[in-house]
Amino acid sequence: MIVSGSASQTLAAALARELEEPLAEVVYDRFPDGELRASVPGFDGDRAIVVASTVSSDAHLEVLQLQDAVREAGAAEVVTVLPYMGYARQDKSFADGQPITARAVARAISTGADRVLTVTPHEEAVCDFFEPAATAVAAGGRLAEALPADLAGPVFLSPDAGAIDLAERVRDAYGEGETDYFEKVRRSGTDVEITPSDVDVEGRDVVVADDIIATGGTMSEAVAVLRRRNAGRVFVTCVHPLLVSSAYARLSRAGVEAIYGTDTIERPASAVSVAPALAEHLDR
Ligand code: R5P
Repeated sequence: MIVSGSASQTLAAALARELEEPLAEVVYDRFPDGELRASVPGFDGDRAIVVASTVSSDAHLEVLQLQDAVREAGAAEVVTVLPYMGYARQDKSFADGQPITARAVARAISTGADRVLTVTPHEEAVCDFFEPAATAVAAGGRLAEALPADLAGPVFLSPDAGAIDLAERVRDAYGEGETDYFEKVRRSGTDVEITPSDVDVEGRDVVVADDIIATGGTMSEAVAVLRRRNAGRVFVTCVHPLLVSSAYARLSRAGVEAIYGTDTIERPASAVSVAPALAEHLDR
């Protein structure tokens, strides 16, 4: 049975269709003191696939509750799918006294999981923090499905060297185009400095691909650089469209044509589903 966290209902339903497995009823309660309770009253089956993006602190707690609830209901195997793993970018202690939060949450989730899947984490090494086997599912190629078929002389760029694989994956799935990356220096949580790549973008359509858009600071800088260089249309695409705060407005003001993401995080920009990519890792 597929069991959905409250932030992943669309994707869980798509995965249930893909695997032809039933979608469990889940009841999300909140007590007057603010405490949560996620229950799975009619759970029935040997295997539970808990699908829950941990987009908030509440969502983290919900995963733990769902894992425990299905175990209580008799599940022999619990596969935990974190389409978007929150806190994955806190994968190091950057200064004395700081936690490695990705490791802490992975340890907690590991207590209730026999297997973990997550989609395109910021660093694949985050999988090593889990106790059971954890797999990073590459879903970037699916982003090409959302792009217009008539891109002119397309260039696929990543905003930093770390995301070049993703840009290449999108290009490969699209079928044609040049790839390159910008150099990025982060000045603060919301501001970055982007140094242009050498590729000539004048009059050409550009797709900027990244694993995640959070505040939109990185992408809006990249788009602004491309606009100054007289690029044609500029599209931004990411696996995880977190798009917090004023990210949409920020990107629109920068001159972006469209924003495309997947359904690892459910947003208006979630143009493609990662359900088929996840299904490949889940035997029927
Ligand atoms: C960091 O290296 C990531 O790949 C993204 O570039 C970053 O998390 C995006 O964050 P924001 O949208 O806040 O600039």
